[in-house]
Amino acid sequence: MNKMLDDDQIFNISPGRHVDLDHHCQNGGYSALAKALAQGPETSLKEISDAGLRGRGGAAFPTAEKIKMLRANTEKLRYIICNADEGEPGTFKDRFIMTHIPFQLLEGITIAAFMAGASEGYIYVRHEYPEAQKILRESIEEAERRGFLGENILGSGFSLSLKLFSGAGSYLCGEETALISSIEGKKGRPRLKPPYPTQAGLWQKPTLINNVETLANIPKIIEKSASWYRSFGTPDSPGTKLISLSGDVQNRGLFEVPFGMTFAEIISEYGGGAKTGKAIKAVNIGGASGVLIPPEMLFTPLEYLACSKTGITIGSGAIFVLDDTRSILSNVQNRLRFFLHESCGKCTPCREGLRQANLILDRLLAGEAVRQDVSTLERYTRAIQEASFCGLGQAAGNSLRSSLAYYRDEYLASCRDNKPSFIEEETA
Ligand SMILES: Cc1cc2nc3c(=O)[nH]c(=O)nc-3n(C[C@H](O)[C@H](O)[C@H](O)COP(=O)(O)O)c2cc1C
Ligand code: SF4
Repeated sequence: MNKMLDDDQIFNISPGRHVDLDHHCQNGGYSALAKALAQGPETSLKEISDAGLRGRGGAAFPTAEKIKMLRANTEKLRYIICNADEGEPGTFKDRFIMTHIPFQLLEGITIAAFMAGASEGYIYVRHEYPEAQKILRESIEEAERRGFLGENILGSGFSLSLKLFSGAGSYLCGEETALISSIEGKKGRPRLKPPYPTQAGLWQKPTLINNVETLANIPKIIEKSASWYRSFGTPDSPGTKLISLSGDVQNRGLFEVPFGMTFAEIISEYGGGAKTGKAIKAVNIGGASGVLIPPEMLFTPLEYLACSKTGITIGSGAIFVLDDTRSILSNVQNRLRFFLHESCGKCTPCREGLRQANLILDRLLAGEAVRQDVSTLERYTRAIQEASFCGLGQAAGNSLRSSLAYYRDEYLASCRDNKPSFIEEETA
């Protein structure tokens, strides 16, 4: 069984204030960049591939495979984008990395750009993170002054021009193609894939786009080796995951957790369990786009393979615990309204499906719905998930689908034709 980490292994999440460049260097920082530049992009990429690093932005795509796609492209001008939009409700891991260990992120971006052959890049930071934007701007300037960024990095001949780009408050702009449109000055709407960003991304050039946490893993892998990295986690999911734990637990916060621990262990060992005197009713895994699972499923390990088999979406790594005082329907409606607000309206299943689903939840919560409404809600959920154009709509139905599967009784109990008084009325 995986144990809690003795120390934060990949992310130093203990300091109260942000780590400056000198502190970063004194603790081994930028030795990974020097090593990568000396050993070359192929050797460095093999290390990332052997480490089995997967994207932490939600889709868990193997990072080395993405970089290989860029390397296979003959186009000379290539871009790197760090996705720091972090709009998933209940997720605050990327903000921590940007505000506390910004140079670990900058070092990871620079190594990734070197491996991919990218010479220009952006960090796309969500508008609601002004402190992270300020720290990153200053850190970029400092890294440039000290030769870790910009022209001829550490005298290697490799150059990377990195700029910060602020989002404008749209959750959808976290989706990679919408994000690219947004940087290009267009409406932040998703594009059809393929072509993928690795083929035709920013200004139609090959573009590597990765999440903050993904990129911040890279320096430690290069510095300490793939086999060291694989000493954490499981063969399927090596390394650790930053978990944003919130809701009805004793200790809320950010934790670095080795893959392989069960959700029950994470909640009890890091979160201290449910609030005193309360029992856990449900747990939301993966943020608003994730699923709601009952306590019996908490014995599933935090691992991509095991979770995909049971329909759990690890997503951004947000875990929200609901105790037995919470209403499942209110919680689901809360998230549905979030997606309704953030939907761009381009396609009907998402735009209209979410609206209709929300109306049914209104009726259910007001005690005015009938059992037929629950079946209709199930049909709408399938249509939203299967026919929406982009990941927003496809994931928006996850909380509906899972709650209808595991908490169907609570839906039915809210229907007026499920109450004894209604049955008496009908048969009178
Ligand atoms: C609606 C929507 C919002 C997203 N928001 C984010 C986000 O805030 N941050 C992020 O890294 N990825 C987000 N993603 C995933 C990105 O499209 C993309 O897969 C990710 O940045 C790739 O990086 P990775 O391979 O390192 O995970 C979002 C996807 C969708 C569909
Ligand atoms: S699924 Fe929703 S957010 Fe995505 S394109 Fe369609 S309407 Fe827009």
